[in-house]
Amino acid sequence: MTNAVELRNITKFFPSSNVLANNNVSLDVRQGEVHALVGENGAGKTTLMNILYGLHPPDSGQIFVNGTEVQVTHPDDAIRLGIGMVHQHFKLVQSFTIAENIMLGMEPNRYGLLQKRDEADQVRELANRFGLPVDPNARIKDLPVGMQQRVEILKALQREAQILILDEPTAVLTPQEVKELLAVVRNLAERGRTIIFITHKLVEVKDVADQLSVMRGGKMIGTRNVADTSIPEMASMMVGRPVLLDLDKKPAKPGKVVFACEDVTVSDTSGIPAVRHLSFEVREGEVLGIAGVSGNGQTELVEAISGMRPVDGGQMLFSDQPITHDSVGRRRNRGMAHIPEDRIKIGLNLETNLDENLIVSRYKWPEFNRMGFLIRSAMSRFAADSIKQFSIAAARPGGEIATLSGGNMQKVVLARELAGDPKFVIANQPTRGLDVGSIEFVHRALIAARDKGAGILLVSVELDEIMSLSDRVIVLYRGEIAGEVDPQTVTQEEIGLLMGGSKLVAGKP
Ligand SMILES: Nc1ncnc2c1ncn2[C@@H]1O[C@H](COP(=O)(O)OP(=O)(O)O)[C@@H](O)[C@H]1O
Ligand SMILES: [Mg+2]
Repeated sequence: MTNAVELRNITKFFPSSNVLANNNVSLDVRQGEVHALVGENGAGKTTLMNILYGLHPPDSGQIFVNGTEVQVTHPDDAIRLGIGMVHQHFKLVQSFTIAENIMLGMEPNRYGLLQKRDEADQVRELANRFGLPVDPNARIKDLPVGMQQRVEILKALQREAQILILDEPTAVLTPQEVKELLAVVRNLAERGRTIIFITHKLVEVKDVADQLSVMRGGKMIGTRNVADTSIPEMASMMVGRPVLLDLDKKPAKPGKVVFACEDVTVSDTSGIPAVRHLSFEVREGEVLGIAGVSGNGQTELVEAISGMRPVDGGQMLFSDQPITHDSVGRRRNRGMAHIPEDRIKIGLNLETNLDENLIVSRYKWPEFNRMGFLIRSAMSRFAADSIKQFSIAAARPGGEIATLSGGNMQKVVLARELAGDPKFVIANQPTRGLDVGSIEFVHRALIAARDKGAGILLVSVELDEIMSLSDRVIVLYRGEIAGEVDPQTVTQEEIGLLMGGSKLVAGKP
């Protein structure tokens, strides 16, 4: 059988970022299969698919669709060839209905003067045909993300896509939505559609894909049958070395309460309560995980705890002392550390060098400061130690940090925040955007800090991360605790229901 897609020796250089995003990449995708395209952030996956979809011209290389060489210079060419693409960031019109979005751009040339009702009927018929029910008259802005994604998929199917590219479709979904999407993808493949499924979650690859192709650093590393490839094998293809995926952590030995929120309410930037009457405790030597779909008050909560946002009510205690109105600096002096969500905007100052970034919160410490003068040699020694201890690749004392990779920047943040053995660490999305190897490193560092007695508050939208690191988990939904669960015994299903807003009744969602 001919392949649905063949890419031959595709090369793409981006002068603006000086990056060779695709370096002589070839890929064969068989008709009717789910083909996972995996790789760390920046590996070149989106670029390769954007080339296939006509969004970027390749510098060189050939594209074959169903055995015929084609020129794809615009998405219209791709659509004509039966290729559809659902991007990571949806391109729907928020104020339009589902039907209007799906039919957008199709009405005049293909259907003449199409009545609204026909439009809705068409969409209903399409949705039923593919088992993807939607309400054609609902407006996009009122829909959960999973439903918006479904609309994007229907939109591609309406344009008769035979080859569907999904770029990291599960990154924004709850576990239930992920499960539904994977079922939809399998179902489309069974009806003969070809699916290229970009992800970096290897469990999903196992669940849904027939073959996988791995990219690393702009190159194609190889293609394998999923059935014959273990998850650790996939991970080491991605990273280029063996990766330990299972964190062998010992049971926690919780001590005294180090941090507590009592009835805390926090407003978002527009003054609407984002965190409502929240109470919880974190003990020394434990990881408390806060699970939840992004946007349920996590950002405001972390900002309030770290001292960056005022609270409207309730109090916060650090080792039994009230700190509700303390500044960021005072909280730090008590032993609070913060690994922020945005390591570039808040975590690091890219304009200063590695040494200054490492000691920024400690410049008053006697070892770095003599009567107001920074002691450069001590800073440099501290930088050298940090580089070694945290294996910060491509860094040197006094060196630039703007050129480091995301993983190495995060190691700089960790080295700074975990130095001096903080009593309480807030880790907010600590592995967002990192490759598997760096994720492993960050996880180990957090557990090591826990085992030295720190209380850790882990906030993450990655459920796998919450489940593998946390000793206890609370689920945040619309700024309130939907439930507390034991990560050892709770199922993905149960926690997913809580994330979607179901309350616990008698210990079960
Ligand atoms: N439009 C662009 N302009 C400049 N550089 C880009 C552009 N798109 C991607 N890149 C760079 O190309 C590399 C590969 O990016 P991408 O294809 O998005 O990777 P992936 O999807 O695997 O995470 C990255 O280093 C990225 O910064
Ligand atoms: Mg991408």
